[in-house]
This record gives sequence, structure tokens and C-alpha cells, in this order.
Amino acid sequence: MQIDIVKDYDILSKKAAQIISAQIIQKPNSVLGLATGSTPIGTYRELVRMCKEGIISFADVVTFNLDEYYGLDEDDPQSYHYFMREYLFKEIDIKDANAHILDGKAADVEAECRRYENCIKEAGGIDLQLLGIGQNGHIGFNEPGENFEALTHLVNLHPDTIRANARFFNSIDEVPTQAITMGIKTIMRAKKIVLLANGESKAEAIYQTLKGKITPRVPASVLQLHPDITVIIDEAAAVKL
Ligand code: GLP
Repeated sequence: MQIDIVKDYDILSKKAAQIISAQIIQKPNSVLGLATGSTPIGTYRELVRMCKEGIISFADVVTFNLDEYYGLDEDDPQSYHYFMREYLFKEIDIKDANAHILDGKAADVEAECRRYENCIKEAGGIDLQLLGIGQNGHIGFNEPGENFEALTHLVNLHPDTIRANARFFNSIDEVPTQAITMGIKTIMRAKKIVLLANGESKAEAIYQTLKGKITPRVPASVLQLHPDITVIIDEAAAVKL
């Protein structure tokens, strides 16, 4: 595990974008696992800049997002479909058919989860997975207490997560209570992982993830076992290390 503690969010975003762009240059048809939340926004901004400047191209890149709220339509401004379009996809040269996100409106959720897993397998697996982290140590929407062996599945969101994500909605009552997420096993199968965290609100989760016991109570702690992970955190998120 490589841990990079950087001065601020700007440097964190640039470092993450450097790793992702190097991956794309080395393998133009890379399969990327992407994350949502406020943490990767700066990274996406950098990737957009590099794409516009002709440094990288997403023409052959395939992406799989980690998760989607269950019950939200892809045009709902709170959906992760919408987020990805706004912050990344509409600004780069990726092909629509290559940008995969779970269908939050799927009538048959189990079939949707199986379809997603098969699609990742057919693409050759994820080369590089980008991750943020929840204040309670969740990755994707794998909440504390979940089985490390789960593949893509439907989850009930923890009240802490609903509270933390309420800032993006008009009121807490609008936050969906369920989501579909890649499982820990899906994430652990990625060949390379880049975990990002900034701000003091993530300090305890980062401490537990990097220095604590490996336990499903802190889902991200399983990442200690991954053979190729880079953790990029700012000084505020590193205060407890
Ligand atoms: C959501 C997402 C996670 C993300 C987390 C942290 O719950 N499902 O993938 O890592 O939020 O979000 P933020 O980066 O906004 O702190």
C-alpha cells in the first residue's frame, strides 16, 4: 500500500488524475472503475482538462461506476448518472456505450446486478478503480457490517450515510434509502485501486482504514489486503495517522 499525504485538495486531485492519465496512455482501452461524491470532482476536472488539451483520449476507454441510488431515474439531477454526465462524460470523448452505470430503476434488481458483473467480466475486469470513502468507512455503498465476499447487490443505506448525503438534496426525506453497489469482492478484483480522501471529516475513517483492524465494520479496511493500492489524502484527512 502506498500512502501519499499531500498538502491540499488541489494537489490530491492532480496526483489522482496523473495516475489515471498514465493508465490511459499505457493502455488506451483501459477499463476504469469510477466513483461519485464530492471527492473525485477535482480529479475529473483535471482529466477533462487533459482530454481537451489532447494529452489523453477516452475514445477506447470503458468505465463502470461503483453505484447508483435505487429508485432514481437517470435524468434525476441527484442520480449518479446525472453526476457523471455533468462532471465528466459530457466533457470528454468517451463513447456512450462504453460508460456503464447501474440502472437505479431496474425492475429486476438481481438480474441487473448479474448483468453488471457479466459486463465487467466481458470487458476483461477493471484495470484501475477510483474510490472515495464515506465517513463511516463505506466504499461504493458497501455499508459497515457487509460481507467482504459480496458482488454487485442492493443495499439499505445506513442512517449515517443518508444524513451525510442529505446535503445534496432539498431535504433528508428525499434521500433514497436504498442503492445498488458493486460489492467489496467486485472492488477487490480491480487490478489497481486509488483511494482518495480529503478533509477532517474523513480523518477517523482513514485512520481505521489504514491502521485499524481489518473488519467488515469498517468496509474500507479490507483494502489493506489489496496488492496494488495507492491512497492519496490531504493533511486534514491524515491528522489521526
Ligand atoms: C457516497 C458514495 C461513495 C463516496 C462517498 C463519499 O456515499 N456512494 O462512493 O465515496 O459518498 O462522498 P464524498 O466524496 O462526497 O465525501
